[in-house]
Amino acid sequence: MFDLLLHNANILTFNKDNSDFSIINNGLIGIKNGVIKLLSSDDIKNPTAKQEIDIKNKWVLPGFIDCHTHFIYGGNRAHEFQQILEGATYQDIAKQGGGIKYTVEQTRNISYEELLRISKKRLNNFVYNNGVTTVEVKSGYGLDLDTEIKMLKVAKSLGEEKYADIIKTYLGAHVTPKEYLNNSDNYIDFIIDKVLPKLVELKLVDAVDAFCENIAFNKSQVERLFKAACKYNLNLKCHAEQLTNTGVSDLLNNYKLLSLEHLEYADLKDIKNMAQNNVAAILLPGAYYYLKETKKPPVDLFREYNVPIAIATDCNPGSSPCESLLTIMNMACVLYGLTVFESIKAVTMNAAKALGLDDTIGSIELDKQADLVIWDINNPAELCYKIGAYRPDLVIKKGVII
Ligand code: NIG
Ligand code: FE
Repeated sequence: MFDLLLHNANILTFNKDNSDFSIINNGLIGIKNGVIKLLSSDDIKNPTAKQEIDIKNKWVLPGFIDCHTHFIYGGNRAHEFQQILEGATYQDIAKQGGGIKYTVEQTRNISYEELLRISKKRLNNFVYNNGVTTVEVKSGYGLDLDTEIKMLKVAKSLGEEKYADIIKTYLGAHVTPKEYLNNSDNYIDFIIDKVLPKLVELKLVDAVDAFCENIAFNKSQVERLFKAACKYNLNLKCHAEQLTNTGVSDLLNNYKLLSLEHLEYADLKDIKNMAQNNVAAILLPGAYYYLKETKKPPVDLFREYNVPIAIATDCNPGSSPCESLLTIMNMACVLYGLTVFESIKAVTMNAAKALGLDDTIGSIELDKQADLVIWDINNPAELCYKIGAYRPDLVIKKGVII
């Protein structure tokens, strides 16, 4: 007996080797204990279930995965948006003490309850308006121990509500806080010695990220952090080659990273390092769109070297104030030249790979988690083609209609 059966579903799924899409028209999905246990193109005779839904030939896609966000933050930076429109660059604003540092002040000053309330609204937007069922979120707007704990507790608490899986990434190495001005090496010592062990003890961290950039941290500082994180068996990720080329991809040969993220300034050597070490590329077209000074990442080279391409909102108050993964899918097609199917794969299977979760989510396959979204469309390509036109008919998280 199944918990839930979905009849007459047009299903977008993947071939066994995950290299391409396949489509099941008029199919049947059976779910038990939150897992896909039946996937059929035939009308199986008399399966029984506690609940059955006739999908009426709407489309069922895997729940989308927003694999790079900073959606837990206080305040906003609309005033900096105005400065950027008037010609200021992101780096100018950062050097004047604005940017990430501005949001750090706002996030330090907001109460836990208020941060939880506004973050939940953003998460609801991801889930119910965009069909997102898994979200990675980075800390890094606290930088001090208490605020980093506050942010990650908000992430944990949202995950415990069970309508989306939340992957918690510690991004202490985002910028150097004012307490360590001109002393970024000491700040790295602080996060290695004081913050990371505490976050691990409190079970508030799944992965560690760092912003390797001339306005943030250099390659050897990032390496020190990764070395420390390895002791705790945490996943590693890196904001890389966003504004300049830092050569941080050399670290891939010594440290097992899941993904490099941004990559606007990635070059052939970076891509070869990624391909050799099975590292996913997370592209963030929202940041390219907002920060006009950046260039396009080398999408053709990722394709040529078979580096899995994921895309994400980057949802943050500065470089990508975007809460719509559907809009990002459109941007990836229009701005970066992804095909519609590359774009869908970039928020499903490849986003799962970028989080190290491709065994459990990212596609509609037997024994995968039943994270499914039903869309009233005639063709999946429509999700990339129109902006602001669609929201899910139904979101199913681990077999539960939410
Ligand atoms: O991914 N690059 C660094 N971090 C964020 C921006 C954060 C911010 O500006 O608040 C990013 O673009
Ligand atoms: Fe980011």
